[in-house]
Amino acid sequence: MHNFTYHNPVQIIFGADTISQLAQLIPQSSRILLTYGQGSILRNGVYQQVKKALSKHTVLEFAGLEANPRYETCLKAVQLCRREWVDFILAVGGGSVLDGSKFIAAATVFEGDPWAIPTRQAEIAQAVPLGCVLTLPATGSEMNGFSVISREETKEKYGFASPHIYPRFAILDPSTTFSLDHRQIANGIVDTFVHVTEQYITRPAQAPLQDRQAEAILSTLLEEAEKVWQQPHDYAVRANLMWCATQGLNGLLGCGVPQDWATHLIGHELTALYGLDHGQSLAVVLPGVWQFNIENKREKLSQYARRVWQLSAPSASDLAATAIDKTEQFFRSLGVKTRLSEYGIGAEAPRAVAKRLQERQMFLGEAANLGGTEIEAILTMRL
Ligand code: NZQ
Ligand code: ZN
Repeated sequence: MHNFTYHNPVQIIFGADTISQLAQLIPQSSRILLTYGQGSILRNGVYQQVKKALSKHTVLEFAGLEANPRYETCLKAVQLCRREWVDFILAVGGGSVLDGSKFIAAATVFEGDPWAIPTRQAEIAQAVPLGCVLTLPATGSEMNGFSVISREETKEKYGFASPHIYPRFAILDPSTTFSLDHRQIANGIVDTFVHVTEQYITRPAQAPLQDRQAEAILSTLLEEAEKVWQQPHDYAVRANLMWCATQGLNGLLGCGVPQDWATHLIGHELTALYGLDHGQSLAVVLPGVWQFNIENKREKLSQYARRVWQLSAPSASDLAATAIDKTEQFFRSLGVKTRLSEYGIGAEAPRAVAKRLQERQMFLGEAANLGGTEIEAILTMRL
């Protein structure tokens, strides 16, 4: 196991009817900016619950953060925060609202060009304190210090990290997720699944606890994913999906082990260039990355096949290949398409994506063996 440091300061408030606790979680004297997306929280009653809980607080609002939150929109909120002396940001929504709000929190008190935060990983010395009410289980953003921002003008999408952007608290009320449509539930399951595999399907690192933590989340996801369509009103299923998503990317699984993240970095380019949902992009790319790196990943893929899919086969090679097929079939069973052509994306895409990552001199994967040529080959397999 590699050395590691782990510190996660996010207070989790989990369960039904917990939004009312906001009044105690945010100091009464705060000037709060409530940030949200395109209106789902108005339709499912979450906005009303938040406003009721904060009826004695000073609350300003900023609506309109997009899925894959845009830099351009976030800057408008930064201006509002500065003008109105906002000293607490409350993000209410999915990963996009959370990520946009994390960027707003950092950029409001950043000196210099804020685009340097995602593009040059400029050091963030401070951020406006932030809390969140999560309504879509997927990204893990509620319990991590990451954010991913897109710039519409240049069709770029970049992540950044800072200890200053961890939410102070995250309210996770599974009943807020009953209003999600099929597509968002499926995307969220794929995203959670791939967060786990990015930290697990690499090479053995003599870390059996982290392996079993990852396998526990993957196995739970397979079970709950089946139930969620049959029992759409079942609170327990929603609760389990939500907790899996948070656990998938709160840093614990990645402690002391190699990590991949090639699927995510390639996927972000597909979203930036062609508008795929984040979950869709992962479902397309993951089987290709695994297929391409099957030799490097053989041992972990075989372990995954045995422990998560309960497969057994005479040779390890069969197991690894079967695990890749099973995973793709699982994504398809959720209704998430796994081929570029199914999203109307043509044969020019592999080169276009590879060129971008090559220009940034990026070598992806736990073995850092995926440069432009390899990325193009991976995406060509996924046409
Ligand atoms: O905008 P509103 O109206 O709120 O609607 C959203 C949006 O249209 C809707 N939605 C959210 N909660 C709902 C709901 N609709 C009905 N009922 C509810 N309870 O769902 C749509 C998608 O929301 P979005 O926030 O975009 O989805 P998600 O949570 O999947 O977030 C995706 C973003 O997170 C980034 C992705 O790249 C993408 O930009 N990621 C962030 C990570 C992180 N911070 O650690 C890691 C991830 O790998 C990922 O990259
Ligand atoms: Zn993700």
